[in-house]
Amino acid sequence: MKLTLVFTFSYIGLMIVCSCKGITDRTIKSLVRDGACSMREIGRACDAGRRCGGCRPTIDQLVVTEKRQRETPRGMMKGYER
Ligand code: FES
Repeated sequence: MKLTLVFTFSYIGLMIVCSCKGITDRTIKSLVRDGACSMREIGRACDAGRRCGGCRPTIDQLVVTEKRQRETPRGMMKGYER
């Protein structure tokens, strides 16, 4: 049985996504902004998701969300373009 541990430090707006490696959501978002576009590339860059694998769904979701934000012009929500 895999156990996913996600610690949220809402008081500083920081979330540890990969507890095995201590990787935060900020690190993953930053890697996506720098060009990483898959779980594999994130793992290669910072080692997240390469131990128990419990964080992989969360990392995948962060990559999708961050890529979508990167591709959407500022101030425009996806699906509401004219
Ligand atoms: S939480 Fe175990 S590899 Fe990320």
